[in-house]
Amino acid sequence: MRGPIRFFQAPIGARNAYDRLRNLMQAIPELPPTTKLPPPKGQLTVDRATFVPPGSTRPVLKQVSFEIKPGDVLGLIGPSAAGKSTLCRLIVGTWPPTSGHVRLDAADVYSWDRVDLGRYIGYLPQDVELFSGTVKENIARMMAASDEMVIEAAQLAGVHDLILHLPDGYQTQIGDKGAVLSGGQRQRIGLARALFGRPKLLVLDEPNSNLDQDGEAALMNAIVSMKQRGSTVIMVAHRPSIMMHVDKVLVMRDGAVEMFGERDQVLPKVLGPRPAQGGQQGGGSGQQLRPVAAQGGAPAGAQSGTQSGTQVMAGTQQSQPRRVAAGGGGGTGQGPQAAQPGGQGQAGPSPQSPAAPAATPASGSSPAKPSTAD
Ligand SMILES: Nc1ncnc2c1ncn2[C@@H]1O[C@H](COP(=O)(O)OP(=O)(O)OP(=O)(O)O)[C@@H](O)[C@H]1O
Ligand SMILES: [Mg+2]
Repeated sequence: MRGPIRFFQAPIGARNAYDRLRNLMQAIPELPPTTKLPPPKGQLTVDRATFVPPGSTRPVLKQVSFEIKPGDVLGLIGPSAAGKSTLCRLIVGTWPPTSGHVRLDAADVYSWDRVDLGRYIGYLPQDVELFSGTVKENIARMMAASDEMVIEAAQLAGVHDLILHLPDGYQTQIGDKGAVLSGGQRQRIGLARALFGRPKLLVLDEPNSNLDQDGEAALMNAIVSMKQRGSTVIMVAHRPSIMMHVDKVLVMRDGAVEMFGERDQVLPKVLGPRPAQGGQQGGGSGQQLRPVAAQGGAPAGAQSGTQSGTQVMAGTQQSQPRRVAAGGGGGTGQGPQAAQPGGQGQAGPSPQSPAAPAATPASGSSPAKPSTAD
């Protein structure tokens, strides 16, 4: 567009952007004062968590309840738009539930000191974004960190050799003006970032969506190591191969829990009967979890949602409207918080989410006994 019209459009665009930002800021409650708490053991309790995005009236999560203990590995599955990523965001404290609670040990995630929470929780979002900076800075979440800590995280993620093969190793610049990484490379560096500092709670949202066989093997090793160290792991998964290492499975549909329980109890209902000959349940690593008829009856631990006679469809790869990572996943100038639990950035319900919002007082919720199938 040319001439005076374009000349006048710039301020109008800026004003619209300002209005959107102001409206969003008003929608975000203020952070409550926090108290320094001792490091958590990794017990996670989701207690009737309901989430209605700001500006919407439709709940994206409905009365979600479950509990996992330190060292548990939970596989989170369900069809596209079931609410898996939204649940991850609530768990890492990006947004508070509209009602209900997410607790790490006994304390509401949202009441933890943000910096502490970032130390105790590792988060690999579905759409990995890396900052403009070095590989080392990205793994260290743009904070000061020793080489040993960064290399330990990279080794745990199985990405150390890959980094050494980049032009300047750990000092390789990535992001807008730096090296262009593949989706799989970004995901593996993102995994190292999530593992940085050995978090007590690790939340991985489709960590293997861009990984090849080697990458997936490295991911498996990392999960097993974290479990051995007593960390709690939540992993949104699409491929059955990755489910072999989980202890518990949570199936979501339409924002509600459809099934929750021990892996061997839940997976057969999702995957159908084991093939008569050969192969592990669920097939090889390339197979997607497919829709099968749920096998009647109220499944273990289900708190809400459709249960019997429905289809359990775990793992379609259809994409939701996504935040577009500027520069193909490179740095977007969002700052280090974007990578951190409780921080802003890609995890927020709005792409313009400027800050981690504060806890909304749970409306009329008293602690409910979380569902477990133990
Ligand atoms: N900020 C928001 N405002 C309105 N609706 C939202 C918002 N965030 C998420 N949703 C909606 O919530 C639903 C669940 O989204 P979510 O990303 O959690 O699904 P998902 O299970 O992770 O899907 P996928 O497997 O495709 O990643 C979708 O219908 C989505 O459009
Ligand atoms: Mg998702």
